[in-house]
Amino acid sequence: MISGSQTPVHFIMSLTDGKPLDGSDVRDLADAKNEIRFIRKFAAEFLATVEDDEQKDKDEHRDDRVRGALYDKQDFGSFKKVSYEKTDHVRSLIFDAIKPNVLFEHDTREEILQIIDVFKPLEFERGERVITQGEEGSEFYVVESGTLSIHVTVRGEDDDEPSEVKVGDYSAGSAFGELALIFGSPRAATITATSDCRLWSLERTAYRSVISQLRYEQHLEKNAFLRSCVVSDKPFTEIFDASQIEDLTIATKVDTYEAGEVILREGEMGDTFYILKSGTLKTYKNNGTERYGKIDAKKAFGTTSLVKGTASPLTYRATSQVHVYYLTQKDFEAIMGSVQDAFDGTVVTRSVIKSESKRTIKTTMSMDMRYELQLGDLEHFNLLGRGAFGQVTLVQSRKTKKVFALKAQSKHYIIKKGQKEHVLNEFRIMKEIEHPYILGIHCAMQDEQHLYFLLDLLPGE
Ligand code: CMP
Repeated sequence: MISGSQTPVHFIMSLTDGKPLDGSDVRDLADAKNEIRFIRKFAAEFLATVEDDEQKDKDEHRDDRVRGALYDKQDFGSFKKVSYEKTDHVRSLIFDAIKPNVLFEHDTREEILQIIDVFKPLEFERGERVITQGEEGSEFYVVESGTLSIHVTVRGEDDDEPSEVKVGDYSAGSAFGELALIFGSPRAATITATSDCRLWSLERTAYRSVISQLRYEQHLEKNAFLRSCVVSDKPFTEIFDASQIEDLTIATKVDTYEAGEVILREGEMGDTFYILKSGTLKTYKNNGTERYGKIDAKKAFGTTSLVKGTASPLTYRATSQVHVYYLTQKDFEAIMGSVQDAFDGTVVTRSVIKSESKRTIKTTMSMDMRYELQLGDLEHFNLLGRGAFGQVTLVQSRKTKKVFALKAQSKHYIIKKGQKEHVLNEFRIMKEIEHPYILGIHCAMQDEQHLYFLLDLLPGE
């Protein structure tokens, strides 16, 4: 039984029976996922238990909302993808409409194709409102046929009566409704059907679940692939332990080369190591004129400069379309420690790597590594990601020059969605937990419109 005075972390500790807080008993990503689910379930139970009974009677659905809010961020385990049938014409209309939209700018073609499956058909009659300015919304729309008007209500300079101004029209192939999903803000315009319309709509939760599920599956696939890779005739699994391969899975990026393109040239100093994912890659000597050999899939290459500090002895050229995973030396060393130790073939048992603490960046954060900063202490750089959750920006402390990710969430959205308690509890839990797979959170800040969470910046994608 949970007592109302217990903090979430005490509650979790009492039920985890002394399990180590540093997550050293977690063996792989599947373990970690289970733990996160476990923690969230307890957090939901904690919220439910301390909830005031009277309030519960007044709003019988609140409990579901809190639980929903806790799970919808990552728990796609229970999500059942519901696809709606579409003609090829409609699929390509939706594809062309959403591809340039900011909401999908970080999604791959494969992800977009999967998202198209879950768009749902809707009919509106002439004169019906699809979106009302100021209301909250969780759907994004694409127009298959018909026309719609866009009106924005504005206030005059003297703050007199607001007036509605028409700012444009939509027709077949248009898309709208992304702003509320990205910023969690109220709808910024009113959209009204000016003829009978057929639209396709995408719900925020469906979008997030499809993307999370796909990315999780891709992550597992990539992890399994890396586990079977080889460098200097040694399997990765002999060189790296499971958590290091997990880090490599997160950090390595994929690149594509077309037939004839050179990936690394003889005589060049390389600063990147590559693994051939697929395609045919041949090696050449004598300035690319003499065939030397070929690289098999799952083999690392380009490591000579990194290990010996000398120029590449070979030219590596794609002879079909080639996909490679790659990681720069700088990123590799930030995550894994010395490249030489890992790749020169002389290494080292896992226990040695661990005992010498070669991993210089950890995703685990001990309490004394937390930064308490103010918004004014931070310089803002580029946007790291935008999605139906809000946005995350790359920021740097003006004083220490340390970089972080700053996650912004609209207060309006949090309150409207009844997520206030959930957000606060999740923040408290994250702040108190040390775990290798949970993003370190430093502090929370706010301005008039937004709550900000200062997070550790994880290397890689
Ligand atoms: P959202 O705010 O979610 O809902 C209304 C939509 O109208 C908005 O997203 C945009 O997609 C679209 N829109 C088109 N023109 C404007 C405009 N001038 N100001 C705000 N929203 C606009």
